[in-house]
Amino acid sequence: MITVTTLTELRQARVSLVEPVGLVPTMGYLHEGHLSLVRQARQECASVIASIFVNPTQFGPHEDLRSYPRDLPRDLYLLANEGVDLVWTPSVDIMYPAGFQTWVTVEEVTSRLEGSQRPGHFRGVATIVAKLFNATVPHKAYFGQKDAQQAVVIRRMVQDLNIPVQIVVCPIVREADGLAMSSRNVYLSTAERQAAPLLYRALQAAQDAYNEGERSAERLRQIMQSVLAETNLAQPQYVSCADPETLQELDWVNERALLSLAVYFGKTRLIDNLLLPEQE
Ligand code: PAJ
Repeated sequence: MITVTTLTELRQARVSLVEPVGLVPTMGYLHEGHLSLVRQARQECASVIASIFVNPTQFGPHEDLRSYPRDLPRDLYLLANEGVDLVWTPSVDIMYPAGFQTWVTVEEVTSRLEGSQRPGHFRGVATIVAKLFNATVPHKAYFGQKDAQQAVVIRRMVQDLNIPVQIVVCPIVREADGLAMSSRNVYLSTAERQAAPLLYRALQAAQDAYNEGERSAERLRQIMQSVLAETNLAQPQYVSCADPETLQELDWVNERALLSLAVYFGKTRLIDNLLLPEQE
């Protein structure tokens, strides 16, 4: 496995990769969720690039940029184990050199859900992902359904800007108790960690109701809220039943729906989601 930092090193290494090339963009502190994307890329592509970059522009001023967990040696060990060919670990100066002033803004789909709670977040995500695509020129790029809105935003960007990359979205990897894996789970106290599977239980309760014929989106949102109310450790920020493509809140679930929620446990903000009907 080759590890590079500068753009020059990256370009040199990229030309010698056998195509098709798959890219797995990450912010590091890797877990099984990230590795599931790497494995899918490994299966589908002749070469796999992973990037590790904690992107400052997607963090809000009061978010956890400085405390975001990092462990590069461990990440490199895990990626080498999965047979990754090339790892790119650029610095902030490389991605945002002095004078930087060009941004990618995806409009409507970023106005809701995560976008409405985290102003500027998706501008940072879209810009860095566009830069990662331009630098690594992948045929396919792998994202997790864990960040459902991020996947919608990236798909939109690629279509709108004619970026020649195929976006692959992989299922959410969960802990045994249902908690979606996240680098941020390490922030949880013991009590919060015990309560955190509630997010998935809330989604499942709504799914059960859906499977029994419930089609009122408001009722499905209420069901999720009532599960989250079981502990005062959980402070819900939003609970949504929306169209999976436009992300607009639904009145009725006619075809598909994206159930999603964002919940604070103390200072830690967790998100989770589930698609209806259940995917194969
Ligand atoms: P990060 O949070 O490190 O996640 C990298 C990728 O792993 C994302 O596509 C995310 O959806 C996926 N992922 C995280 N947890 C997952 C889980 N439990 N199951 C499946 N996939 C999971 O998302 C980002 O970084 C950044 O926004 C990035 C795209 C790298 C741009 O900076």
